[in-house]
Amino acid sequence: MYHCAVIGNPIAHSKSPEIHQEFAKKHNIPLSYTRILAEKENFKEIVHDFFAKNGTGLNITLPFKEQAYLMAEKTTIWAQTAQAANTLWFANGKIHADNTDGRGLCHALQHIHNFPLKNKNILILGAGGAARGIIQPLLECAVKNIHIINRTHTRAQTLAQAYDTRVCAIDNIQQSYDLILNATSIGANAQTFNLDPKALQENTFCYDLFYGKNTPFLTWAEAHNICHKADGYSMLESQAWLSFQIWFKKIL
Ligand code: ATR
Repeated sequence: MYHCAVIGNPIAHSKSPEIHQEFAKKHNIPLSYTRILAEKENFKEIVHDFFAKNGTGLNITLPFKEQAYLMAEKTTIWAQTAQAANTLWFANGKIHADNTDGRGLCHALQHIHNFPLKNKNILILGAGGAARGIIQPLLECAVKNIHIINRTHTRAQTLAQAYDTRVCAIDNIQQSYDLILNATSIGANAQTFNLDPKALQENTFCYDLFYGKNTPFLTWAEAHNICHKADGYSMLESQAWLSFQIWFKKIL
């Protein structure tokens, strides 16, 4: 029996156990996948203990993705650009970390929603950890450009500076976009959402990185007659599948 888990706080809502059990069933892999509630103070100890007891792999969710990245001894390029990790495993005596969120998003957009990213104009809402995790994978899909808008403009500027000239911070909406990605934490709590509707054209795809019906962003999109929209469940499934492949690549 392999043992995997997702660590976060809160964690009771996490759909990762169900998603991973589905993959395991499909591929005939005996898997126990649990939820672990951690605190900032005991997160590191829980991770070490998990791998000391032969755990196969961990998913890391809010608010521990940065701590997970910092404690890893080997990191992928995607974890490095995100400065955050959502997937940990143990190999050759070391804790390894990857971040599959951005690649999961690109996979979901292109292969679940049939939205090719090549040459697209993209607007990212937010400049926190969630935004940082998706920019490099989007650039690798040959998008045309990425504009970042954030409540705190200086955060958007700092983020944009880390990338090539296709990425820039804006402080007001001047044009419409092919794709708008909500990477703010507005979906996580019951806040209302507002954005200049100039960002929309008839066929703009509005995608919320948060999952759940009627997120404030998707409600706003609907109120502006946008029918091409989705919540982050497809991203969740896609990043989970990438993690699963990392842990079980030898037996898949
Ligand atoms: P995460 O790691 O989930 O991205 P974060 O680093 O706290 O979390 O970032 C949250 C993002 O949501 C930020 O871009 C934040 O804007 P600020 O940089 O100005 O804080 C944005 N955000 C959160 N609440 C918001 C609100 N009520 N209106 C607009 N933006 C909000």
